[in-house]
Amino acid sequence: MSTPSKVFVAGATGLLGSQIISSLLDQGAPVRAMVRPGADAEKRGALTALRSRGLEVVEGDITDPIEQLAASIGDAATVVSAVQGGPDVIVDGQANLARAAAKAGAGRFIPSDFAVDVTKLDDGDNFMIDWRRRAATEYADAGLEVVSVLNGAFYEVMVGFMGLVDWDRGTLSHWGDPDQPLDMTSVPDTAAYTAAVALDPEATGTLRFAGEVLSMRQFHDAVQRGSGRTLELRRLGTADELRAEIERQAALTQNPFDYIALQYQWCMVTGKGKFDALDNARYPRITPTSVTDFVRAASPTA
Ligand SMILES: NC(=O)c1ccc[n+]([C@@H]2O[C@H](COP(=O)([O-])OP(=O)(O)OC[C@H]3O[C@@H](n4cnc5c(N)ncnc54)[C@H](OP(=O)(O)O)[C@@H]3O)[C@@H](O)[C@H]2O)c1
Repeated sequence: MSTPSKVFVAGATGLLGSQIISSLLDQGAPVRAMVRPGADAEKRGALTALRSRGLEVVEGDITDPIEQLAASIGDAATVVSAVQGGPDVIVDGQANLARAAAKAGAGRFIPSDFAVDVTKLDDGDNFMIDWRRRAATEYADAGLEVVSVLNGAFYEVMVGFMGLVDWDRGTLSHWGDPDQPLDMTSVPDTAAYTAAVALDPEATGTLRFAGEVLSMRQFHDAVQRGSGRTLELRRLGTADELRAEIERQAALTQNPFDYIALQYQWCMVTGKGKFDALDNARYPRITPTSVTDFVRAASPTA
């Protein structure tokens, strides 16, 4: 079997980026990871430890001058971005990275999308997704193939950041129709699909993956089964009432991150960001974990 071509990963110290690197190395791919000069010592150390598995580590920032960034990318055939940040990073930084990748001779760019179906949303639905669509128009003419990977919501986010589950009160709260199907995938499975796409020269366009497609009612069952806990399923209101709640909060704060979790929920519970079809079958080797198993593994007493 021939050696896969080299993959450059930006966002290497991040939650998703670090797991994309592990998945790529597991598949025998040569990987070059970019780490910011000021990156956390522990995260940098974890990457350094992967050098024995063939990982190259370079210092840099996706906002570096193009010539410098292109030199960092070197002979990589595919550039994967798993960065997170504001518009300076997601729009300007990623456009810069895509242009540097093209300059270095890389043929493909996988941007840091990793969300619900960004192509179906409108400006104002979710400000972080707005940045990703703006970025896409910026790097559309960068001179390389852009392949977008979408995964719905991370399981980790569904049971954590979204604020749906309150273990102390024993509740699982949600907005909208409890029977609306929702796309969701664990971080490791999203990383595995991203690595598979990065190493698949035939992959083009937007690819959509989900570990599971569950309604809130089914998600509630899965969380109860996995945790061994009984949780009261509470409906907070309709999807329209959720939109009104987002607008109410937006009027009260200067910081849109205060209501971003609600914007992600709105995109999901309305069905607006729902995938029409999945590309899981393209990579049958990947068998994503279920929400039940994910929650069971995270609940040692279950
Ligand atoms: N679908 C979902 O439910 C979901 C949930 C969470 C995240 N995501 C998506 O997954 C992607 C990755 O998120 P994450 O949670 O893994 O992010 P994260 O843990 O916050 O990591 C972000 C990474 O970006 C790097 N970075 C930031 N600015 C940079 C710059 N200017 N140059 C180079 N590197 C830079 C950071 O480096 P430092 O270590 O130096 O700061 C870090 O490695 C994002 O697109 C995010 O929206 C999706």
